Amino acid sequence: MTLEFPPGFVWGVATSAYQIEGAVDEDGRGPSIWDTLSHTPGAVRRGENGDIAVDHYHRVEEDLDLIATLGVGAYRFSLAWPRIQPDGRGAVNERGLDFYRRLVDGLLERGITPVATLYHWDLPQALENAGGWPARDTAHRFAEYASKVGDALGDRIGYWITINEPWCAAFLGYSLGQHAPGRAEPSAAVAAAHHLLLGHGEAVDALRATAPEATLMLALNFEPTGPATNSDADRDAARRADGLYNRLFMDAVLGGAYPEDVLEDLTVVSDLAHIRDGDLDVISRPVDALGVNYYTTTLVRAGDAPAEAAPTQWPGSAHVVAHEPEQATTAMGWRIDPDGLERLLRRISSAYPRTPLYVTENGAAFDDEVGPDGIVDDVDRIAYLEGHLRAVRRALDHRVDVHGYFVWTLMDNFEWASGYDMRFGLIRVNGPSRERVPKRSFGWYRDMLRANALVG
Ligand code: FCB
Repeated sequence: MTLEFPPGFVWGVATSAYQIEGAVDEDGRGPSIWDTLSHTPGAVRRGENGDIAVDHYHRVEEDLDLIATLGVGAYRFSLAWPRIQPDGRGAVNERGLDFYRRLVDGLLERGITPVATLYHWDLPQALENAGGWPARDTAHRFAEYASKVGDALGDRIGYWITINEPWCAAFLGYSLGQHAPGRAEPSAAVAAAHHLLLGHGEAVDALRATAPEATLMLALNFEPTGPATNSDADRDAARRADGLYNRLFMDAVLGGAYPEDVLEDLTVVSDLAHIRDGDLDVISRPVDALGVNYYTTTLVRAGDAPAEAAPTQWPGSAHVVAHEPEQATTAMGWRIDPDGLERLLRRISSAYPRTPLYVTENGAAFDDEVGPDGIVDDVDRIAYLEGHLRAVRRALDHRVDVHGYFVWTLMDNFEWASGYDMRFGLIRVNGPSRERVPKRSFGWYRDMLRANALVG
């Protein structure tokens, strides 16, 4: 049976600056927190880093041609703040902006809509030295950066994503210590989450002033959670995890208030003194759409160590992920749950029916094997994508207002703390030559989006 998508549905593919660009010392770029963390022994698998990454900075023309061959209508990428403001403040570095002018013009020439993310985790190190996201001033610096970028590129970019995945930036970065800047300070993480959202709201104001016609959104990573058993303790653990992953961010941005139960949970690690009167009005400035990043769902059970007992492991200590040996997972160990995407889209849409949605990331890492012909026959990735697209189609059937879908990711790249081991790309990037070889999934996605339908 053929499952058609609505006319005009946006098909895209996504990347981020630090994961692909390399050229970390070129054309006046300053250091970011990911340069620092990736050069810290033990922080990244095999001690890998993004110094060269997949060399996109130097191969941008080749990559633009590949994106055009893929046939997507939109390309989601991020701008590296430290290329544009090497110290995170003050005058712009025109050479840094020039790279993005070339990229954006190259997309437009090929008829591809640019979707620009302003922050995909590469905070200028100078701002981290001044306190990082736990410091309120970082939100104001982000708004200044947004305003300058809007001035420079607002004439040619019609779609903006302010912040990518504030949960990860705040909690993986400042509490669990797995991502940059690698701090393990739960109360700082709670303040970071708030200031990331405040920065988002201030950036919306800045972009509205410089690019009034643009579509503005932010991208949240949702991880639907359920209890491993029906016990009260597990159900409460699931409520807490859902609150922290999902509701804290969505309700603040779209509903203008933090959920009361989550605020109460947070008092275990934070006095919440960083939240000031009027902040939620800024955080909830109207957006034109919401970006939904979805990979997996989790089942949780109550942790052995409540946050009071182990604050430095929080929030991981407050609940633990339940293991389900029979469940299929990706190479990341993430359970494959396409139905979770349908449920999530329907949930967001019933809570906030007026907000159009884009799936701004979805995809999977597998242990790709290169066949004798040099091609990766990644049937598991195709099955993953197809399953999730069927889920999007079912959500559309339930009148969820989904406007587009972006595969994570165009090509294998630096997968943060996992280094280059985790391959999410539609294109394989080979070893030191960094030769690009489209995988079977590349052709599958190209044919699917050309038909605007899943066939078969
Ligand atoms: C998301 C990130 C993206 C990539 C995928 C696998 O959380 O936004 O950069 O790492 O996960």
